[in-house]
Amino acid sequence: MRKDIQNTAEIKRIEEIKKTTEIIKVNEACLDDAVIRRAGEIIRAGGLVAFPTETVYGLGADALQAQAAEKIYAAKGRPSDNPLIVHICRMEDLEKIVTQVPEQARKLAQAFWPGPLTMILNKNDCVPDRTTGGLASVAVRMPANRIALALIRSGGGFIAAPSANLSGRPSPTLAEHVWEDLQGRIPLILDGGAVGIGIESTIADLTGEIPVILRPGYITMEMLAGVIGQVRIDPGIVDEASGIKPKAPGMKYKHYAPKAEMVLVEGKPQQVVWAINRLAAAQEAEGKKAGIIAAAETADCYRHGFVVRIGDRGNEDTIAHNLYRILRELDKSGADIIYSESFSTPRIGQAIMNRMLKAAGHQVIQAESLG
Ligand code: TXA
Ligand code: MG
Repeated sequence: MRKDIQNTAEIKRIEEIKKTTEIIKVNEACLDDAVIRRAGEIIRAGGLVAFPTETVYGLGADALQAQAAEKIYAAKGRPSDNPLIVHICRMEDLEKIVTQVPEQARKLAQAFWPGPLTMILNKNDCVPDRTTGGLASVAVRMPANRIALALIRSGGGFIAAPSANLSGRPSPTLAEHVWEDLQGRIPLILDGGAVGIGIESTIADLTGEIPVILRPGYITMEMLAGVIGQVRIDPGIVDEASGIKPKAPGMKYKHYAPKAEMVLVEGKPQQVVWAINRLAAAQEAEGKKAGIIAAAETADCYRHGFVVRIGDRGNEDTIAHNLYRILRELDKSGADIIYSESFSTPRIGQAIMNRMLKAAGHQVIQAESLG
């Protein structure tokens, strides 16, 4: 073979290797040190590694290297004004990236870290603008997952990680979801199996006098108030039709959207079942495929469309756990339209409905109005 042809073949081969994404299974109960070390080296060298947390899978890079953070935006197709969350594994590391740790932050960290709470604090100079989207504040969280904590330690202590999905797709709750979205774009996925919670962390802004929730999650307003007293919720996320801009830049984007149009149906359970049956029947009459998101308690009541069970109303954690997986499955099913029961309840219900309303682009029908 001629040498120049041989060289071209070699370059192609190297390019192909670079494009492949490796998935390595990791058992949270007995971590493989060699795998964690290797993943940590990729992070230190400015590369990307996807990893499990207790909420959703994250796409990690060294938070203190601007060029590494840059790669996250490119891999996800994420708008560059949408800042990243910095993940830490030791309380003392918090002091290194913020100007000051207020007493309230200390109390919340003690109560909920490691865990699904992200706090916004004023950043200091070692955090590059690329990580915070140009903001003077930084989002910080200590995740409750041993694989994540070991990777953060091995990667140098500060991992910037958004959810490991392509921008606009549902957050990944399984390594397979990361693979679907990011194969060929990142070198390594650590597969720790299904995540526990299934929706992203609660975000609380602690830069003002009264803490403000910018994104609802597993840690509720009541839980936060139980530790620090008064807490407010960002008006921009309560009523998106109000025109008030949400304070977390990411909350303004159309998120979590399935490919098919999605409509939420509200009302008493019996009325909702009746309304969805009627809507699905009308779609079928037009030769269209209607997907239905139903709770276990009502899933058997549908005569039209195809039903996916999201979880039990009696245990809403199951609904949060399955939500994003089901949205991805409905995409694959080729549904033309999705009708979903709604889950407007307290506790984690607020976070579930926040995600569902976004997925549905705020299309809500009152079951009564069809009667
Ligand atoms: O559970 C989670 O938080 C997951 C896992 C991987 O830890 N991460 C996650 O990251 O959900 P991401 O990038 O998908 O969402 C981060 C949100 C965005 O809405 C972003 O705008 C907001 O946090 N955010 C980040 N830094 C901020 C800041 N300094 N001020 C206000 N909002 C901020
Ligand atoms: Mg996200």
